Amino acid sequence: MSDIRSESASARAGSEVEQRLVTALFVLIKTARLVDTGNATFKTKLEDFCARLDTVIADYGEAAFKVHNERYFVNDAVVKLSDDNRAAADTVVRDWAKVGIGGVRFSGDVIADEITRFVVELAQMRPDEHNLEQLAEHLKSLGIEHVELLGVREEVYTDDGTPETTEVVRQKVRKSARAAFFQSISTVQEVMHQASEAEDINVAKTKRVIHSLIDHIILDESSMIELTALKNYDDYTYAHSNNVCVYSLTMGVRIGMDRSRLSQLGFAALFHDVGKIRLPKDLIRKPDAYDDNDWFQMQRHPLLGAKTLLRNLEFSLFTARAARGAFEHHINSDFTGYPQLKYHRREPTLFSRIIAIADTFDALTSGRVYMKRKITPDEVIKKMRFQMAVKFDRLLLKVFTDIVGIYPAGSLVLLSTEEIALILTHNDKDRSRPFVKIVGDRSGLLPDPIWADLSSEEHQERRILRLIEPEKHGLQLEQFILQD
Ligand SMILES: [Fe+2]
Ligand SMILES: [Fe+2]
Repeated sequence: MSDIRSESASARAGSEVEQRLVTALFVLIKTARLVDTGNATFKTKLEDFCARLDTVIADYGEAAFKVHNERYFVNDAVVKLSDDNRAAADTVVRDWAKVGIGGVRFSGDVIADEITRFVVELAQMRPDEHNLEQLAEHLKSLGIEHVELLGVREEVYTDDGTPETTEVVRQKVRKSARAAFFQSISTVQEVMHQASEAEDINVAKTKRVIHSLIDHIILDESSMIELTALKNYDDYTYAHSNNVCVYSLTMGVRIGMDRSRLSQLGFAALFHDVGKIRLPKDLIRKPDAYDDNDWFQMQRHPLLGAKTLLRNLEFSLFTARAARGAFEHHINSDFTGYPQLKYHRREPTLFSRIIAIADTFDALTSGRVYMKRKITPDEVIKKMRFQMAVKFDRLLLKVFTDIVGIYPAGSLVLLSTEEIALILTHNDKDRSRPFVKIVGDRSGLLPDPIWADLSSEEHQERRILRLIEPEKHGLQLEQFILQD
């Protein structure tokens, strides 16, 4: 798929912090090969590594080292090492490769003792006798839970760096996007529950799922956007928060935000509606139209959200930005909306302006939020671009409409050949002719769907006539989106 970009195009350059962390890791592993863990040199190297690890984990929730095509990565940033450091790292990595280790992930809750035991095991590893599975099992049996060995990365790129376009790769990417997407929804649910009970919020885990969403969006935006079309959940609040996060991050990636800003944006988007957990449940789930009192209640959620975040989370840039996002996401660019600001009318921040657009789109397309009738995504976009235009940042709205396109990924369309197709991603060459998956024809649903690039010569006779609403035709969108 044209959207699966090559790694070299998307990888950011690592910072000095990340560079030093990689060096410290390999120095520590080499030291463990030479001396005992009680040795003073080992202790100093361990301390040095732990301090650097803490800095990266504070930002990302985890630190994942990967080696791929002789390049070193930390959280998917390419790290350049000096010649000496590189030579030292290479000797360790050569042994890793024999065993099938492609990297190591340290999760947020890792402690120094676990790191010590891990490097000792790694130092004792015999490349000719061990394999990755055995080692992973062995680490688990030792109770080492917060350090994980990663396999050698599966090739999804051809030798010259251009993306593979085989069906296998596409399915892999989509499958992995799905796993990240649903993992994120369950984390939102868990964390919102923690927030409502005033329990400690698992910030590290939240940051981890956000990075995983960012990775997938960078790799293949449409496989993520497509999943936002699923609306059939028992409790839509969590899926909504997650969708707003995916849309916001996609906008962030498109406008060129760096990793750490993306991570903060994702955090803010995920918690924009956290204030709703403080409102009565029957109000959130009320199927009928809201009366004045309901509205009054509902309009408290931005302030409640900001307070919940500031009270329940340790203060950081993440918390501050998330609190502001929660407070401002219903304040429009023309200062209509709520809460009404009497004094100090400050323009909503970039994050809040992004979240406001993502939020409105998801709320209106879900058809659940105070709407009499569900409107199709293209109608929603039209409404946002014209009737509601004054509410939004014009440039950001343009970025967003470019993402969802004329036919948003995940919608069903009728083709001129009387076939029904699921939109996968739009085509930069011709926006009216996206990539689709044909799922049915006049005789019914196809047992094997057909993938088609409608802009290609062979599919010229297939034109999109219109979007169709699955429910009206007795079809369930889930079955198409989740089928491969
Ligand atoms: Fe909201
Ligand atoms: Fe919302």
